[in-house]
Amino acid sequence: MDLKDKLESKKAVCSVIGLGYVGLPLAVEFARVGLDTVGVDISGEKVKLVNSATSYIKDVKTSELDKVVRKGKLRATTDFSVLREADTINICVPTPLRKTKDPDISYIVSAVKEIQKTLHEGQLIILESTTYPGTTDEVILPLLEEMGFKVGRDIFLAFSPERVDPGNEKYTTRNIPKVVGGVTPRCTELAAKLYETARMNPVRVNSARVAETVKLLENTFRSVNIGLVNEIALMCHRMDINVWEVIDAAATKPFGFMPFYPGPGLGGHCIPIDPFYLSWKAKMSGFEARFIELSGMINSEMPRHVVNRVSEALNARRKCINGSNILIMGVSYKEDIDDTRESPAYDIIRLFQRRGAQVQYYDPYVNRLEGIDNVPVFEYGGKNLARVDCAIIITGHGNVDYQMLVKNCPLIFDARNTLKGIESGNIVRL
Ligand SMILES: NC(=O)c1ccc[n+]([C@@H]2O[C@H](COP(=O)([O-])OP(=O)(O)OC[C@H]3O[C@@H](n4cnc5c(N)ncnc54)[C@H](O)[C@@H]3O)[C@@H](O)[C@H]2O)c1
Repeated sequence: MDLKDKLESKKAVCSVIGLGYVGLPLAVEFARVGLDTVGVDISGEKVKLVNSATSYIKDVKTSELDKVVRKGKLRATTDFSVLREADTINICVPTPLRKTKDPDISYIVSAVKEIQKTLHEGQLIILESTTYPGTTDEVILPLLEEMGFKVGRDIFLAFSPERVDPGNEKYTTRNIPKVVGGVTPRCTELAAKLYETARMNPVRVNSARVAETVKLLENTFRSVNIGLVNEIALMCHRMDINVWEVIDAAATKPFGFMPFYPGPGLGGHCIPIDPFYLSWKAKMSGFEARFIELSGMINSEMPRHVVNRVSEALNARRKCINGSNILIMGVSYKEDIDDTRESPAYDIIRLFQRRGAQVQYYDPYVNRLEGIDNVPVFEYGGKNLARVDCAIIITGHGNVDYQMLVKNCPLIFDARNTLKGIESGNIVRL
């Protein structure tokens, strides 16, 4: 039986390498439609949690995970030799930046080296990690073909970017269309077939390179528009214009305008990182991606702007940052999630600490702030809020009592317009 038939009859065995924010929801989707699925991760802890049907990803409900684990449709392991049984392998490992802002694709390479060990005829390999155009053709393809297989004839290789937006209940791994670009047309067809079998909606493109660039265009679009609106916010502050009111009124235009909002800086594993994958690769063709560099500069200056604005606001109250009690409200990189990766809260906290402030944080989703010292958790309550010199809303969450904050805290700097509609003399907005 060839792979197409196996997929159509749901006899194919699927595997997913990397069971994080991207890989776990995907593995659950495969298992949910009845495909035997195995997840492989280097983290023994995650593997144990999956096998005991305990979800550690907010978007994957434990009840949903429990259903597929109990039916024996999904299991997890740290043992890569299970890939021998797999007909399809989706790679969902991290793609960070090095300190020099160069792409770090070492996780992808290490996953492919594991695949090499049990690679066999008929296997379909799909890279889902976000990466620069050419990774599939220039890095993965040669590693697979050096094992003696011809891609497009013996084995199949494609790129399909993951476009999930953690915390978004309307658009999830299940219903976001899946862009698919294979190394050959047959690779594209088989990859599209896998997603169709999982009841996803594949959008075919003509090459892996196009599929890789699609994802980077999407995230560059966000980064550039956020950079633009951040610059407008800086400009409006200088000119004493309420930027939030400007955006809300502009957003009433039914065409040709899409609102983006300023904030304390970019966060998460995607928007601050992905555009630099593209500009790094463009440089190799002698092309300077100016919008990417410029928006990167503006966005990465926002934490400093927030600290300067707080300094001004304290100064107006005859106070200074040195020795002040600063409360950081919301440390995840966006609302109603627990992910703190690349959160601007880190830069802002460090800047305050460097200027001599005592910093505490409050975030109902984050019990422990990894990677930074001397930032205790704040006990949220009226009396304690009254003792804070300034509370800064970095990220607003739906489950926080902001009325209590406004009632008790002497000064609030709202970097997200979370307190929209509340007028009070102790609120200063970005
Ligand atoms: N998080 C998002 O919102 C999002 C959205 C779209 C795309 N992406 C992209 O998807 C990719 C994965 O991101 P993520 O957020 O799921 O990361 P993550 O850190 O949540 O998960 C990655 C997982 O891979 C595992 N891992 C690392 N190296 C491994 C290896 N060699 N073999 C097996 N497992 C390994 C880690 O233990 C971890 O569980 C990245 O390229 C990211 O840019 C992420």
